[in-house]
Amino acid sequence: MITRKLGSTGPTVSALGLGAMGMSDLYGPADEGESIATIHAALDAGLTLLDTGDFYGAGHNELLIRDALRGRDREEAVISVKFGGLRDPDGGWQGFDARPAAVKNFLAYTLRRLGTDYVDIYRPARLDPAVPIEDTVGAIAELVQAGHVRNIGLSEVGAATLRRAAAVHPISDLQIEYSLLSRGIEAEILPTARELGIGVTAYGVLCRGLLSGHRRGDRQLPPTDFRAHSPRFQGENLDRNLALVEALRGVAEGQGATVAQIAIAWVLSRGQDIVPLVGARRRERLTESLGALNVKLDAGDLAAIERAVPPRAAAGERYAADQFAQLDSER
Ligand SMILES: NC(=O)c1ccc[n+]([C@@H]2O[C@H](COP(=O)([O-])OP(=O)(O)OC[C@H]3O[C@@H](n4cnc5c(N)ncnc54)[C@H](OP(=O)(O)O)[C@@H]3O)[C@@H](O)[C@H]2O)c1
Repeated sequence: MITRKLGSTGPTVSALGLGAMGMSDLYGPADEGESIATIHAALDAGLTLLDTGDFYGAGHNELLIRDALRGRDREEAVISVKFGGLRDPDGGWQGFDARPAAVKNFLAYTLRRLGTDYVDIYRPARLDPAVPIEDTVGAIAELVQAGHVRNIGLSEVGAATLRRAAAVHPISDLQIEYSLLSRGIEAEILPTARELGIGVTAYGVLCRGLLSGHRRGDRQLPPTDFRAHSPRFQGENLDRNLALVEALRGVAEGQGATVAQIAIAWVLSRGQDIVPLVGARRRERLTESLGALNVKLDAGDLAAIERAVPPRAAAGERYAADQFAQLDSER
């Protein structure tokens, strides 16, 4: 397995990470046995970075990871956990809480659910507008001191917040959406992360399945599915985005690769400091994603990919308006 180092202070991890969110939440029903088999297959293939959030399935995702890691060497996995998202019993979203006392409370529950005594990377899922980032990072730094957390990460924050956070404690990586359809970080956030020695764990690399080549124009999604509300999956936007995917399919076929593999390989090509997270929920999808590590893209291939999906070609914002408004990275 090819590895990459997360930032100047973070851990060395597999060049691809596995995001477990869809195994518990937001992307429709998942099969628990297949989810665990997928995590096992990932670890067996040498993939080390597992990403979760304590609010994915209201704790279910962490319990699933505990089950998958049972009987294995804890050091085999680099576990990245997001906290702060507040849910209700129906799966609704209630905002974010990153107050120092809440940070420590969330971690106490996370450690118990994961069945471990440390988290490799701990990060607030969003900037809590009511709490200075210095206070949140300061609280995690105390958890680092105490040995409960090994590295501090951030998620969906902008350049100014990166600077403020990094002044308090080294930040291993910023988790943020980055793909052929979401290139917003290139202007300011990515250069700032590089200046500060902060790595990037990129999510949405397949634009939540849209950029996988497997998705058709199905429009009937339950309200609990993220894509039922995502502007990119609605009406004419979906048609326009699927047309981009078909253009990319042409390039992929010329490469003897799949659309998903080209989309992942493109993100991998953007820098040694970027680790794509893929949301595979089944072994078949994982195998396809891992195949991206063997795709070699030269300058001509990269130009063809960008002709098929030019910057800013995506139709629709990457989040619905209420969630978009919570993104420090978009201010
Ligand atoms: N920090 C944040 O704010 C944030 C936000 C969202 C996600 N994340 C993290 O990022 C991880 C990845 O999520 P994502 O939304 O970025 O997922 P993604 O990889 O963009 O999309 C995953 C979806 O694509 C479909 N798919 C089709 N072909 C695939 C393939 N070859 N490999 C993988 N998936 C394929 C899967 O659906 P089927 O299984 O139905 O085929 C899956 O539900 C999450 O698990 C989470 O850990 C972080």
